[in-house]
Amino acid sequence: MSLAAAFLLPMGASAQQHQFTINAKPGAPIQSTMYGIFFEDINFGADGGLYAEMIENRSFEFPSRLMGWNTFGNVAVNDVKPAFERNPHYVTIEPSGHAEKHSGLENRGFFGMGLKKDMTYDFSVHARLHDLQGREAKIRIELVDDQNVPVDRQTITIGNSQWKKFTATLKSDRTVQKGLIRIFLESSDAVDLDHVSLFPGDNWNGLRADLVKDLEDLKPGIFRFPGGCIVEGTDLATRYQWKNSVGPAEDRPLNENRWNYTFAHRLFPNYYQTYGLGFYEYFILSEKIGAEPLPILSVGLACQYQNKDDAPNAHAALEDLQPYIDEALDLIEFANGATTTKWGKLRADMGHPAPFNLKQIGVGNEQWGELYPVRLKAFMDQIRKKYPEIKICGSSGPSASGEMFDYGWKEMRRLGVELVDEHYYMSPDWFLKNAGRYDNYDRKGPKVFAGEYASHMKGLDGEPTVAMNNFGAALSEAAFMTGLERNADVVHQATYAPLFAHVEGWQWRPDLIWFDNLKSVRSVNWYVQMLYSTNKGTNVLSLTEDGKAVKGEGGLYASAVYDKNAKQYIVKIVNVNEQAKEIALNFKGAKALAAGTVTTLHADNPKATNSLDNPHNVVPQEKAIQANGSNVSVSVPAQTFVVYKFSEMTNKK
Ligand code: AHR
Repeated sequence: MSLAAAFLLPMGASAQQHQFTINAKPGAPIQSTMYGIFFEDINFGADGGLYAEMIENRSFEFPSRLMGWNTFGNVAVNDVKPAFERNPHYVTIEPSGHAEKHSGLENRGFFGMGLKKDMTYDFSVHARLHDLQGREAKIRIELVDDQNVPVDRQTITIGNSQWKKFTATLKSDRTVQKGLIRIFLESSDAVDLDHVSLFPGDNWNGLRADLVKDLEDLKPGIFRFPGGCIVEGTDLATRYQWKNSVGPAEDRPLNENRWNYTFAHRLFPNYYQTYGLGFYEYFILSEKIGAEPLPILSVGLACQYQNKDDAPNAHAALEDLQPYIDEALDLIEFANGATTTKWGKLRADMGHPAPFNLKQIGVGNEQWGELYPVRLKAFMDQIRKKYPEIKICGSSGPSASGEMFDYGWKEMRRLGVELVDEHYYMSPDWFLKNAGRYDNYDRKGPKVFAGEYASHMKGLDGEPTVAMNNFGAALSEAAFMTGLERNADVVHQATYAPLFAHVEGWQWRPDLIWFDNLKSVRSVNWYVQMLYSTNKGTNVLSLTEDGKAVKGEGGLYASAVYDKNAKQYIVKIVNVNEQAKEIALNFKGAKALAAGTVTTLHADNPKATNSLDNPHNVVPQEKAIQANGSNVSVSVPAQTFVVYKFSEMTNKK
């Protein structure tokens, strides 16, 4: 079925040439933050995903202390004189009592441990002799393949009775989809082990190199973290508290993950947050990928989906809000403060004396109703007083429109936040019909942050009620995004959501990037985001047909920008019709154009998708295109997103 049929679009005649006029005079500036990414630890996006730690429950702190581990022989959990105050549990391995039987434990990581051929693996453990009278204990560490055959092994000798860190490097001579690590005692002396860790040698600051590259190549302008609903928590006690996510990784206390057993159709009782990927890592990742950081903090409201507003522990009373406000103030100090300040010093101690140059902060994730503005105001008063330069981002709630949304916006205007975070997960049809959404937005109030959005196309083979990434949804996003771009004077940032999903561990889809334990795949939607962010330009250009914006009439959508740095005109067009459309691009006021490029994203089938096995099924194709003076005649194929790029001719001497 074609996209046009799916959306019941009229089958227009293709012969008539559309005349698009692009005014070459640069208009409103486009913010560097315009296209970005939204990160949340959902779908095993952090632990088991971007965070490259391969061992599940490495500190034995999951409520079922040995969850993720198989033990054999004589293994017990203890907490006497622990290595880490906030993660006090560890395991003791003692001889089994039988000369022919071993004691030890094994861990299959997250959905089986992926091992790559010729890759090294950095093992570490905190260990001590269990008995003060003990002399020397030995543990053997083995990487094991999916046929239960050891791939590599190392032995560590422990002669200390105080906790000490030991390391070993292992190497895999083969690729294994679902391996495991096994540790067993090779001595008569018993041993205590804690924080058992394994990272692939190619990690970037503890993060999976391939997934970091997937983010880097998006060239995001803004990086929103750490969510999402996990900011709010199932209750206040389980909200994301950034201070628990900094300092030595071994002593960051465990938190539950709000997505563990929320959805009956996708239960993951083993889903926790170790905070190995914490706020320091988020900030350095922002730098690495060239995006401005945008942390979102709890406003003192637990997830409003999971709690009735009057439920106990659903929100902090106003008189109890100060610790929450302090979390925001201290975070700004952690990010930007001098190294002589308490939190600035911690940043320096962790390895980054220079400030992170935080410019904005979100207070509350997806809040609604009267409980929100009054709390937000209490935050704003103190943030404004201490850090007047920091922009504040408020929320308009979980819907794209309606009473709750209108109330949210009214309150955000009244309070004077700089940005309002809108969320919409809607059908492709909605996205196509809403390409003009921002055309009439108030230009004097707060700016828009489309902080979570994605087109959800339901009705896939075998799973009729669950949406999935596909070309049809991506095309509708591309069409809608012409409206973001045209309105870049009021839309200052936009982030598709969610970002990551493990193919076996997802709770929510679609998602921008999918992965297993060995590799990742960029969805078709990723390519749409990338084409926008790498072609965002510096200024909006007016693009019209018959004096009107091109926003869906006859199944065409278009926007244009100028890039002052590259001196390029960039035009984006989406054609959702079943026929090609002939279009003349007339650049009014431009000099003669040199040959340019056209980049095309197309699939015959709206359900076409990229997968781990077929990652390049739908990817952009680029070729050259000629101009005629300041005009260009193009034919935009049916059901296609195209990006045209031209420079003016330079005078040759
Ligand atoms: O992106 C998934 C969830 O959708 C986010 O956690 C929440 O903010 C929204 O409801």
